[in-house]
Amino acid sequence: MNTPPDLLIFALALAGGYLLGSIPFGYVSTRLAGIDIRSVGSGNIGATNVLRTGRKDLALITFLGDTGKGAAAVGLALLVTFLIGADIETRRQAMALSGAAAFLGHLFPVWLRFKGGKGVATFLGTLFAAAWPMGLLAAGLWLLTAAIFRISSLSALVAAALVVPLSAFVFDQPYPFLGMAVFMAVLIYIRHRDNIRRLLKGEEPKIGAKKETPA
Ligand code: G3P
Repeated sequence: MNTPPDLLIFALALAGGYLLGSIPFGYVSTRLAGIDIRSVGSGNIGATNVLRTGRKDLALITFLGDTGKGAAAVGLALLVTFLIGADIETRRQAMALSGAAAFLGHLFPVWLRFKGGKGVATFLGTLFAAAWPMGLLAAGLWLLTAAIFRISSLSALVAAALVVPLSAFVFDQPYPFLGMAVFMAVLIYIRHRDNIRRLLKGEEPKIGAKKETPA
């Protein structure tokens, strides 16, 4: 069987990844419980903010959904490119594009008028599925920072900043995956502008704290 042209594979990876990533698990799960998460805490649709409602179960669903959709986007791209017999480079590029598109889908979901989340859980999910050492490293950095400071945004910023250089120089990961991680890390910083301002003023709430001034 002839493999389809790379451009078609990449276009499908982008479209499929975006659609998967745009499923707003935090918004849907809280909405079903009668809460509009956008009017709680930071207003973000991510697991950290869902936890501020006091509903640990919904925060867990949000976290698993948001990481899972990132992992699924990368995994699906791998499966499809494998089944059609694409070469390893095309396979990796399609995986990276699908993961990056899922991340964009989370940040700019068509269903919420393009007002989505900050992407941290989806970032973790795509990394785990693309190259597990990178995922493990990012999760480890997040957990370590959270254990010390108990601040979710700071943990995300540390993980986003360090995972790329450490993966490149210590674990020697493939370029498409490093490119995907750089793209997501830059957007995580842009998306956390308000958090960075609060961190600098010492006003960023700790994980699980329910009281917070809406951003
Ligand atoms: O994962 C999102 C986290 O880094 C920040 O969330 O709600 O504190 O702005 P939030």
